[in-house]
Amino acid sequence: MRVGMLTGGGDCPGLNAVIRAVVRKGVTAYGHDFIGFRDGWRGPLENDTMALGIEQVRGILPRGGTILGSSRTNPFAIDNGVEQIKDNLAANGCDALIAIGGEDTLGVATRLADLGVDVVGVPKTIDNDLSGTDFTFGFDTAVNIATEAIDRLHTTAESHHRVLVVEVMGRHAGWIALHSGMAGGANIILIPERPFDIEQVCAQVESRFATHYAPIIVVSEGAVPVEGGDMSLASGEKDAFGHVRLGGIGDRLAAEIERRTGKEARAVVLGHVQRGGTPTAFDRWLATRFGLHAITAVHEGDFGTMMALRGTEIVRVPLSEGTDQLKTVRADLYEEAEVFFG
Ligand code: F6P
Repeated sequence: MRVGMLTGGGDCPGLNAVIRAVVRKGVTAYGHDFIGFRDGWRGPLENDTMALGIEQVRGILPRGGTILGSSRTNPFAIDNGVEQIKDNLAANGCDALIAIGGEDTLGVATRLADLGVDVVGVPKTIDNDLSGTDFTFGFDTAVNIATEAIDRLHTTAESHHRVLVVEVMGRHAGWIALHSGMAGGANIILIPERPFDIEQVCAQVESRFATHYAPIIVVSEGAVPVEGGDMSLASGEKDAFGHVRLGGIGDRLAAEIERRTGKEARAVVLGHVQRGGTPTAFDRWLATRFGLHAITAVHEGDFGTMMALRGTEIVRVPLSEGTDQLKTVRADLYEEAEVFFG
């Protein structure tokens, strides 16, 4: 059996661990051979392939990124995209495909499975917002990177009596903010699931200064103020200290806090640092297990499925379960953290 493999969407520490596990078990336990498609769905669309065997996966377990490359190409947005994919899979003698990706990549896989393509999915995202699985790999690494940053920012915030706003990734869900904020002892955590009240945030900032030290605020990139909330310092405007504020919610929040409280505030945007570098042991372990189970699902012909972590078990769920709706932060989990606010 010849199995194709691709990685799509934002890259994520642990992708190489999945690829390695699939190939190692596929070759040694089942005698399958493999072909890599480069840059997500662009690979099978444009027939951009690479050799993929024991040789290519040697030494990649601790490496971040993906040896297959990645992109956000969506074949359904391209004329005849699906036909091109089917033709190229056939031309390469591919009997099955393993797609490793997040909501977009696995969304495409779900639709292709419905159209008769033999595909198995492996969920990945640092955002941890895919349903059906308790955790995605990459998340633990991102949380550890953010937590280390928060630990470091405490001391500089205290020395200068400043507010430090740490913006972390999470377009739709606040998992990274919640976990790193709790682990790093943040004084306020703001997430997309809970529009924030800027007045309340400033009151918490002031109470923190009055009773303790300088506050650390962790904010997801997707967090928004409550409707009608006055966040009047737009991107690019100068703040009370003459700094030009650019871009995202972290910058805007820091500017608004300065304007309202008179306390100096700085924003730190962690950005793609959270996605780079070597995966944690947990992410290597989870990614490896996903890979081992994915190739077994392929071998058994159990297509249209996605690997998922439930407790300590890896189970197979329908691909659509991972992509139909996002897994957002539950209210009770957020409320647990609120005891530390202010
Ligand atoms: O999907 C994961 C994610 O890390 C999001 O949190 C973030 O908004 C996005 O990717 C950034 O993607 P890009 O690499 O395209 O800037």
